[in-house]
Amino acid sequence: MTAILDLDPFALDVLADPHPHDARLRDAGPVVYLPAHGIYAIARHAEVHAALRNWQGFQSGAGVGLANFRKEAPRRPLSVVVEADPPYHDAPRRVLSALLGPRAQRRLREGWTVQARELVDRVVSGGDGSVVEFDAVGALAEAFPLRVFPDALGIPDEGRENLLPFSDFLLNAFGPRNELVAAGAPRARALSDWVGEHSVREALADDGFGAQIWAAADRGEITHGQAPHVVRSLFAAGVNTTVHALAAALHALAAHPGQWRRLRADPGLVRVAFDEAVRWASPVQTFFRTTTGDVRVGDAVVPDGSKVMLFLGAANRDPRRWSDPDMFDVHRNPSGHVGFGFGIHQCVGQHIARLEAECLLGALLERVESMELAGPARRRLNNTLMAWDSVPVRAVLT
Ligand code: HEM
Repeated sequence: MTAILDLDPFALDVLADPHPHDARLRDAGPVVYLPAHGIYAIARHAEVHAALRNWQGFQSGAGVGLANFRKEAPRRPLSVVVEADPPYHDAPRRVLSALLGPRAQRRLREGWTVQARELVDRVVSGGDGSVVEFDAVGALAEAFPLRVFPDALGIPDEGRENLLPFSDFLLNAFGPRNELVAAGAPRARALSDWVGEHSVREALADDGFGAQIWAAADRGEITHGQAPHVVRSLFAAGVNTTVHALAAALHALAAHPGQWRRLRADPGLVRVAFDEAVRWASPVQTFFRTTTGDVRVGDAVVPDGSKVMLFLGAANRDPRRWSDPDMFDVHRNPSGHVGFGFGIHQCVGQHIARLEAECLLGALLERVESMELAGPARRRLNNTLMAWDSVPVRAVLT
């Protein structure tokens, strides 16, 4: 028997505070039918993990948003990476894995460490010498990735202000056509055109990720037709996600000053602390799959061709998997969280995101003795992301 819940996961009050609704979903059963959108929902960790692993039963190729492209023609271009099933997924994925792996990290680490220190220096020099207040979203969580990632991708300074609204719209478009989508719609075409113009070989610096994707096409690893779409996937997935993961980490640390003290005592914990923030806040809250046949989940059967919403954020706080799941704890072992997904589509940029976090939080640890929230943090609603508009912070400097 499949449980049925009267819940709209895209209602603005639910997006603003998903946690109580996540608990209702988890408690209702291993899979739950949501008549509000005619979809199934999976929110427990074990079942989300199993569905992410089972790409044969839960495909991505019919769209990882609410729309079912087995039943309707796509109104937007499908991603050749995140919305492709094997065998089409294999080659672009291989190219990105090679590009964004350990070699890139070694190449980028030194420069990013210097840039993070310079940014933090600029931000903290605004205070009275011992205490400084700043908005952690604008000053750090946006500023750092918007500097280093487009540089690494190989795009010019001009037009970078398009990156966040482009990806914001794309991630909103995974949901229904609600007011969040409507608000971004007037600019959507122009933003998409801008990304298209900057995904071609001529627009990209010759030493960045973009040029390397085109070089992979020259070597025959992907087709020249696929290359601009693979570049586009980095525009779509590479900046906004990291911005809101960094914002989540800074918010979590400012809201829990004791955890900052623990990090100061053992700065080697920075990487784990970032992963714990990704578990605790889950910047990417949800993604969809589509069943390719009747699929059993627990004691229920999800019929062929159903859209299934996977609640990564709910799984990351499932008490069946985590002790004290609502507690942000830098001494926890967060491995096994699904904040980066799992299985063949698990985030191919996760090491880049972790490197950005390590550089930025590491630089902040060198300069900031303690920090706390300096006022109420403000959420930015998005159909897919748990995002922040503003996180005011007061920092006592070393
Ligand atoms: C896939 C989250 C940073 C590029 C994913 C998925 C998640 C995710 C949950 C899985 C989607 C699915 O299963 O359908 C995040 C978070 C990030 C982050 C939370 C920041 C903390 C990045 C960065 C890049 C990137 C920095 C690029 C450098 C991608 C790509 C995919 C992906 C291309 C598709 C992979 C595939 O389908 O094989 N990400 N991501 N992400 N991510 Fe990330």
